[in-house]
Amino acid sequence: MDTNIVTPTDGQIELAANLLKCGELVAFPTETVYGLGGNGLNPRAVEKIFHAKGRPADNPLILHIGNWGLLDEICTPSPQARLLMDAFWPGPLTVLCPKAASVPDQVTAGLPKVAVRMPNHPVALALLQQVNLPVAAPSANVSGRPSPTTAVHVLTDLMGMIPLILDGGPCPVGVESTVVDVADEGVIILRPGGITREMLEQVVDAPVQVAGSALRPLAAGEAALSPGMKHRHYAPRAQVLLVEGDAPMGMLRKHYQAAISVGKRAGVMCFTEDLPALSDCNPFDLGSRYHGETVAQRLFAVLRQVDEAGLDVVFSAVLPPEGIGLAVMNRLGRAAEFQRTAEEPGR
Ligand code: TXA
Ligand code: MG
Repeated sequence: MDTNIVTPTDGQIELAANLLKCGELVAFPTETVYGLGGNGLNPRAVEKIFHAKGRPADNPLILHIGNWGLLDEICTPSPQARLLMDAFWPGPLTVLCPKAASVPDQVTAGLPKVAVRMPNHPVALALLQQVNLPVAAPSANVSGRPSPTTAVHVLTDLMGMIPLILDGGPCPVGVESTVVDVADEGVIILRPGGITREMLEQVVDAPVQVAGSALRPLAAGEAALSPGMKHRHYAPRAQVLLVEGDAPMGMLRKHYQAAISVGKRAGVMCFTEDLPALSDCNPFDLGSRYHGETVAQRLFAVLRQVDEAGLDVVFSAVLPPEGIGLAVMNRLGRAAEFQRTAEEPGR
């Protein structure tokens, strides 16, 4: 199959909507990452998504809608869930709600709740409104690879697997949506993302919990609240190691030098402020440490660049896990399988 990358003109969006109606897959930009869309009410289209990504069948998909009228056709949101949707949609928030019978079990991997979101991107909204169906869309990467934040990332992963990629330029948020469940005990973040815990707390006016495994590996026997959190994720081929501390320059340099001294191809992922001091350590620019939004926007592209550079190991600076930093550290932590460097190289 040929894969076309096109500018999302009205005509191309209409073509994309027709492909979706016919059960084909289309990759499209959202404000978070590119999605791999298929008709969310058509089990065969949903199966194609799992196949194209090589995604484990036990990892459920998000249904995307572009108009409020479709909401009640796919789920029954509680008043609290509806409050969050009203506050943050269209936007990078995904809410779990009891699913309607119309939603195929393949979408939810057999779970009783379906994940729903209305993205805030002009191309995504135009496509969703044109097709007027709930569109199942995971991130448009091969399962386990960093999520795609440009159309070229999608092409790199899915060339020959899908007919069409709508190229809407780089995604502005850069990390995926926040996934929340609304339980009797309150709102719980299953996956931190573009809408921060602090933003949610302002709306619900109560503490919002974060699933324990957001910043550490799952314990033996611990069930993942969000099935996606149990799979290795966001991982480049290089080993990623987190270097903690407020002033990581010295540590990044030490670890880099120790790695090259034993013949490894190495690099560092550092903040823009530290680039001059680390210019001889094969640095990759994460953005300013004072602007977590930029770090989020760049993170997945940087992880892909690390792969293209053919590195064996990369040492990364970290952000405090607050605001958007929580989503950044969740993704970076999973890319690193939560491995931190020792105080001194070699220990
Ligand atoms: O920003 C985003 O959310 C992007 C764009 C394309 O919208 N989509 C995305 O989808 O990141 P995906 O499939 O890569 O990640 C969806 C996450 C997974 O961790 C999955 O396990 C979880 O949401 N999820 C989906 N449905 C669920 C459900 N019914 N119960 C619990 N977790 C669910
Ligand atoms: Mg994904």
